[in-house]
Amino acid sequence: MTIEMLTDQDLPTAMRQVSDSVDAVFADILATPPGASERLYEAMRYAAIGGGKRMRPLLVVASARLFDVAPQNALLAGVAVECVHVHSLVHDDLPCMDDDDLRRGRATLHKRFDEATAVLAGDALLALAFELLARPETHADALVRAELISTLASSAGASGMASGQMMDMAAIDATLDMDAVVQLQQLKTGAMIGWCVGAGAALGAADAGQRVALSHYAQCVSLAFQIADDLLDVEGDEQAVGKRLRKDDEQGKQTLVRMLGRESARNYASGLIDRAVSSLSPFGPAADLLRSIAHFSIHRDR
Ligand code: IPE
Ligand code: IPE
Ligand code: MG
Ligand code: MG
Ligand code: MG
Repeated sequence: MTIEMLTDQDLPTAMRQVSDSVDAVFADILATPPGASERLYEAMRYAAIGGGKRMRPLLVVASARLFDVAPQNALLAGVAVECVHVHSLVHDDLPCMDDDDLRRGRATLHKRFDEATAVLAGDALLALAFELLARPETHADALVRAELISTLASSAGASGMASGQMMDMAAIDATLDMDAVVQLQQLKTGAMIGWCVGAGAALGAADAGQRVALSHYAQCVSLAFQIADDLLDVEGDEQAVGKRLRKDDEQGKQTLVRMLGRESARNYASGLIDRAVSSLSPFGPAADLLRSIAHFSIHRDR
């Protein structure tokens, strides 16, 4: 497995390097082994390779960089979290959830293949995440690997993203207050983004104060990131975003954009990014990439 070194903190360069490296790792690990189900592997490759912003692997790499972690270790942890993320998108798009036919600029997995294949490819990607984290290449210390596995499980499962997705479905056409919508978004999107920066800290044996600062950064960025996603649903360009838009209102989704209105939601997100950036002050210029990611999370067209 190879990874280009992350040579600078310039965001477009880092995004390109991480995206290319993630694609290369996926192409390697998702090559069909002899005797395996060709169709299942084909579906996993279709969902995982060649698309998306790769924000979560980038966050792992950018956070790990603060502690001089070897890029190939951070990359493997980043690919693991991207497996969980792709799994969540594949299942989120199913007819029983958001019922979408376009993702990352192409047909959703269940449209291109079929629903059973999409369920199974999603399951297999979720399982693959933990297999990757258990590999010694992720970190030499088995206790660090166990921490990453255990925290990813809780971030993805019933105390994290799965609960958020459950609330998202259950809240359709309900009336939630602001605290409840924030809690929904923090579970749905925040838990996984929190894991990413926490993984960099775990790989780099960060101290408790550094972990608290990074966790605050992640909480603010993830909420702002989801507000930006919800704003794109209202005012984005479908071609650029690569998924169907103008659906959240029609489907009765509870979002901060719906609750506050576009302008207030935008201001709220911008305040969150200010708070995210100030929580990075103990790290100095080494955290410039994390600062750029924070700004990008709300100033984006996809
Ligand atoms: C979409 O995530 C789902 C949300 C949690 C908002 P991304 O906006 O990161 O999707 P990709 O990975 O770039 O396709
Ligand atoms: C999904 O949120 C978040 C996940 C955990 C997958 P959305 O339903 O808003 O994501 P998109 O807009 O379909 O990407
Ligand atoms: Mg959804
Ligand atoms: Mg959706
Ligand atoms: Mg959305």
